[in-house]
Amino acid sequence: MHIALTHNLKEKDSSKPADYFSEFDSLETINAIISAISRKGHKVSAVNVNGSDVFDYFKKNRVDMVFNIAEGKHGKFRESEIPAILDYFNIPYTGSNTFALALALNKALTKKILKAENIPTPNFQVFSRGSKELDPSLKFPLIVKPNFEGSAKGIDKKNVVQDREELFKVINEIISLYKQDVLVEEFIEGTELTVGILENGKCTVLPILEIDFSKCLNSGEYFYSWKMKEFQGNKEMGLVPEFHCPARLDKNTEALVNDTALRTHHAVGCFDISRTDIRLSKDGIPYVLEINPLPGLNPNESNFPLMAYAAGMKYEELIEAILMSASERNRLN
Ligand SMILES: Nc1ncnc2c1ncn2[C@@H]1O[C@H](COP(=O)(O)OP(=O)(O)O)[C@@H](O)[C@H]1O
Ligand SMILES: [Mg+2]
Repeated sequence: MHIALTHNLKEKDSSKPADYFSEFDSLETINAIISAISRKGHKVSAVNVNGSDVFDYFKKNRVDMVFNIAEGKHGKFRESEIPAILDYFNIPYTGSNTFALALALNKALTKKILKAENIPTPNFQVFSRGSKELDPSLKFPLIVKPNFEGSAKGIDKKNVVQDREELFKVINEIISLYKQDVLVEEFIEGTELTVGILENGKCTVLPILEIDFSKCLNSGEYFYSWKMKEFQGNKEMGLVPEFHCPARLDKNTEALVNDTALRTHHAVGCFDISRTDIRLSKDGIPYVLEINPLPGLNPNESNFPLMAYAAGMKYEELIEAILMSASERNRLN
């Protein structure tokens, strides 16, 4: 088969804000995926969405399948841009469709669906420019996040606020910086978990990954903030989270967390792969923060491959499983 790998390549450009490239993929990731696909005997063409005319490429090159990890280019529906082009040309692709990708990028809308499905998610309110009324039922501390970002863009430790004054200060900062609605949620004290789902013949929940920030407290960071994600492992900065996979949970909690992630995957309508971020509260409730239908696939740094390794898979097997799941879906449709 001829497979195109659609992606946004991470570049160095100091004229852009520090977090501009955070969602994009490194050459290391691109090369690892290319090598895994090539080893199966396929021809692979890498298509960098930054700086190429993707529509024109697929008009001229009739590939058999696309391995899609692209974040897209602009705005609130950016992750759906490449799947929309591929749908237009009737080219099958790995991962979720336009609809699920746009939904998952809208954290607040996803949370409304989770609530309707009785899946726990922190209580929340959405703020637009100029909104001033705080829902009195929300309990401080609250966390303020841009509604349409990933990779913890715009999420700093000062986004956890203790009172109304701090809250509106951060809301206004984020609205002007990111030019989008802001999601305000109750901050859930507890354990950080992330749960990978891989449709590997059947929908499989990978071993749960627990991220423990207790060794990072000297740095002032205590959750998966942008700084923590961007510089994790940096000893001088004290950003040394500990990863436990499988997570240190009792059997009942593990089953509850697995079920919560699986229901989230289905509620949002994800395909092939997803990673659900959860905060397990001290009283054992798995609160879903968000679902990532395009989780990072860096073979050495990303959370999802870590979970696949804990399940006994090699990186190539993970990539192959994603491809197989997409091929099978395409064959049946
Ligand atoms: N309601 C919350 N309670 C506790 N921690 C949170 C909450 N929301 C976000 N966080 C922290 O911020 C991190 C990033 O938030 P998340 O909603 O997953 O955004 P992103 O899409 O940028 O990853 C989480 O992994 C978690 O550590
Ligand atoms: Mg997240």
